[in-house]
Amino acid sequence: MKRHAIYPGTFDPFTNGHLDVLERALTIFEKVIVVIAENSKKQTLFSAKERSAMIETVTASLPGVSVEVLHSGLLAEYAREMGATAIIRGVRQVKDFEYEFQMSLLNRHLNPEVTTVFLMPNVKYTYVASSIIKEVAMLGGDVSKFVHPQVLTMLENKCMEQKP
Ligand code: COA
Repeated sequence: MKRHAIYPGTFDPFTNGHLDVLERALTIFEKVIVVIAENSKKQTLFSAKERSAMIETVTASLPGVSVEVLHSGLLAEYAREMGATAIIRGVRQVKDFEYEFQMSLLNRHLNPEVTTVFLMPNVKYTYVASSIIKEVAMLGGDVSKFVHPQVLTMLENKCMEQKP
């Protein structure tokens, strides 16, 4: 039986840490759907369409990856619709755990057929987060080690757009 997973996140922007987690997931699952979902606590820099195009470019050479946008509704319900058996989440540090634990148990309550699988990215990405990448890029810092060249270009374009 072919097992597939969904990898949800805000991905604003998609970083090399996210890519690292996705590549690890592909060693376990034949198909992984990257799901751009809404986190009600976050305001994004990139639109869902921009993030979708960004992730499609970054993952173009990876077989078994597709990118979808969850515009509304519950992730657990979406997993059911897609027939996914797992939700992939990256955990970088102990501080990620409480929030991830809560989400994982809630998602299990909402859809008992789906299991959250936690994967640790390479240690060099443990301090990377999308918000810090955006902040450094907006202040003119070099983030080229943490994002794909296409994401870097998109970040540079956003910085230009946002300059008064
Ligand atoms: N490398 C680098 N950074 C990583 C990472 C990795 N491997 N894994 C996580 N991160 C960072 C992200 O960059 C992000 O940083 P930021 O907070 O600075 O933006 C942070 O860790 C976590 O964000 P992300 O992985 O994008 O997920 P999220 O917490 O924003 O996503 C959703 C949460 C979207 C999955 C969740 O809100 C959801 O499921 N929404 C749909 C509606 C729903 O069902 N809600 C109920 C959920 S129980």
